[in-house]
Amino acid sequence: MIAVRRAAPEDTDAVRRIGLITWPVAYAGLASPEFITDGLAQWWSREAVERSIRSGITLVAEENGVLVGMVGLGQEEGFWVMWKLYVLPDQQGRGVGKALLDAAVDALPTGTPELLLDVMVDNAKAIGFYEAYGFGEPLRTPTRDLGDELKWMRLGL
Ligand SMILES: CC(C)(COP(=O)(O)OP(=O)(O)OC[C@H]1O[C@@H](n2cnc3c(N)ncnc32)[C@H](O)[C@@H]1OP(=O)(O)O)[C@@H](O)C(=O)NCCC(=O)NCCS
Repeated sequence: MIAVRRAAPEDTDAVRRIGLITWPVAYAGLASPEFITDGLAQWWSREAVERSIRSGITLVAEENGVLVGMVGLGQEEGFWVMWKLYVLPDQQGRGVGKALLDAAVDALPTGTPELLLDVMVDNAKAIGFYEAYGFGEPLRTPTRDLGDELKWMRLGL
């Protein structure tokens, strides 16, 4: 059975493992090798993962003692943003992503009006998943410039 729970700092290495395995597979056909290497160094370093566990909301999906997926959220300029949602490649399509997203929405402070995320414009699989969940065009966004390769999506809560 899959259980979703809050990650603790002790889960840092297990959370990193999900990113280190999933990120290169997810972006292999979508992004340059440099993007993949830089992203792993920037967003999946021990420091970055531990910081987001401590300062944001990080949830993990666990099955038989093994972490199979994670979601990471943080605040930026008053917006709640889901920066990461990753399910191990061989565990995708089993409802883990939906369970993590449901739990992430539940974990937001009461009264949070919306959840934003950033996604690669060419990541059709993820965009399809988010649209099926109810994400659409944002009304307002943080000032951070995502560049041409990424876009914001919004879920009204
Ligand atoms: C995108 C991702 C998080 C989705 O998680 P998942 O566990 O594979 O998805 P689920 O099995 O929970 O799917 C839940 C529902 O979404 C639907 N769905 C999934 N992908 C879909 C798509 N591309 N288009 C339409 N619906 C989709 C499923 O059919 C399912 O619907 P159902 O409940 O009616 O059967 C996962 O595939 C993943 O980690 N991908 C690689 C990394 C990535 O791109 N992450 C996003 C970065 S922004």
